[in-house]
Amino acid sequence: MNVLVAYASKRGSTAEIAEAIAETLRQSGVSADCIEAGKVGTVSSYDAVVLGSAVYIKRWQGDAKHFLRKHDKELAQRPFWVFSSGPVGDPSSDADPSWLEPPKIIEEVTRLGAREHVVFGGRLPVDPRGPMGLLHVSCGVTPVRVRD
Ligand SMILES: Cc1cc2nc3c(=O)[nH]c(=O)nc-3n(C[C@H](O)[C@H](O)[C@H](O)COP(=O)(O)O)c2cc1C
Repeated sequence: MNVLVAYASKRGSTAEIAEAIAETLRQSGVSADCIEAGKVGTVSSYDAVVLGSAVYIKRWQGDAKHFLRKHDKELAQRPFWVFSSGPVGDPSSDADPSWLEPPKIIEEVTRLGAREHVVFGGRLPVDPRGPMGLLHVSCGVTPVRVRD
């Protein structure tokens, strides 16, 4: 079995999650490629796909949204899973789930038959850029870990 793990990441933490997923698959004997969503030409040679994106202000990254549109028919024909990465701190304290996963994306991947969609914790930027980045960091929250 050959699995594609495609991801869209702005500052690297989603890329690390994607690579951890691919490495875990490899360790269980499954062949897995981990590739930036914007650099994937075709998914037709893969038996299954995992697609993940960082969430910024309730939105997936453009490359992940574009990937969904571009490969929708192929995704509907094979097993695929989706993850969003973003929340920092205690996820249970976030009352509005639309901050964790963009609802329209979830509707779309559900329509295409995604097996599961999950949310992984994000990481605060080391060098916050712009007022929104600084605001985010100044909330002083602890990153949620992907493992354990
Ligand atoms: C300006 C800004 C807006 C963000 N908006 C969200 C959000 O809407 N939902 C969320 O879960 N995380 C949000 N985050 C947290 C990021 O998704 C988190 O830092 C994530 O790890 C970034 O992934 P990346 O390193 O792959 O770019 C935001 C972060 C920043 C700096």
